Amino acid sequence: MSVRPARFITLEGVDGSGKSTQSRLLKDALEAEGYEVLLTREPGGSKGAEEIRTLVLEGEPDRWSAETEILLFTAARRDHLERTIEPALAAGKVVLCDRFVDSTRVYQGISRGDLRSTVDQLHALMIGCEADLTLLFDMDPSTGLSRAKARQTSEERFEDFGLELQVKMRAGFLELAKAEPERFAVIDASQNIDTVASDTLKALKAVL
Ligand SMILES: Nc1ncnc2c1ncn2[C@@H]1O[C@H](COP(=O)(O)OP(=O)(O)OP(=O)(O)O)[C@@H](O)[C@H]1O
Ligand SMILES: [Mg+2]
Repeated sequence: MSVRPARFITLEGVDGSGKSTQSRLLKDALEAEGYEVLLTREPGGSKGAEEIRTLVLEGEPDRWSAETEILLFTAARRDHLERTIEPALAAGKVVLCDRFVDSTRVYQGISRGDLRSTVDQLHALMIGCEADLTLLFDMDPSTGLSRAKARQTSEERFEDFGLELQVKMRAGFLELAKAEPERFAVIDASQNIDTVASDTLKALKAVL
């Protein structure tokens, strides 16, 4: 058990698994209990990082190589950490971050070639911190993909890689959770929104 209360919480999972929906519900639930909460997201979460977000999430699937993508995501994360996450943690807030380095480990590290050690080395060099708790929203990726596709946004570069990749990514996330069971809570995201929200709050309360 951690000696200080968990403050830096990340939400991870395949496209359409409900991370953004649940992060909003979680923020409201925690604020209702008197916590000060910062909800942020990746890629993005600071002005510069949001500009990088547009570069990585829009356009053709082959717009960037996996290597270039790792550099862009890490640059965005560094800016986000310096300008948004660290100041909020220093002010005693609970930070809820919709995707963080586990998404880079899975998307760039596992799913397109074997770049996991590159992701980890760059992370150690430029970011150097992990979440206190990572909520993994696990579900059948074909359902997630159809949920995500129903939303109609221009940020579909990764969704356009298709179902086969999403299946690999789900397995990648579960592998990370197995390797670090003390950091991860795996949530069954195939349930209805309210049940997922209640499971999520329960997992967070166990460490807060
Ligand atoms: N438990 C649920 N059951 C049914 N629909 C859901 C559930 N959770 C979320 N949705 C719907 O599915 C869609 C995708 O949800 P959401 O945007 O929260 O997923 P996400 O994990 O943030 O996706 P992305 O990885 O693409 O950002 C939304 O339209 C949302 O309303
Ligand atoms: Mg989202």
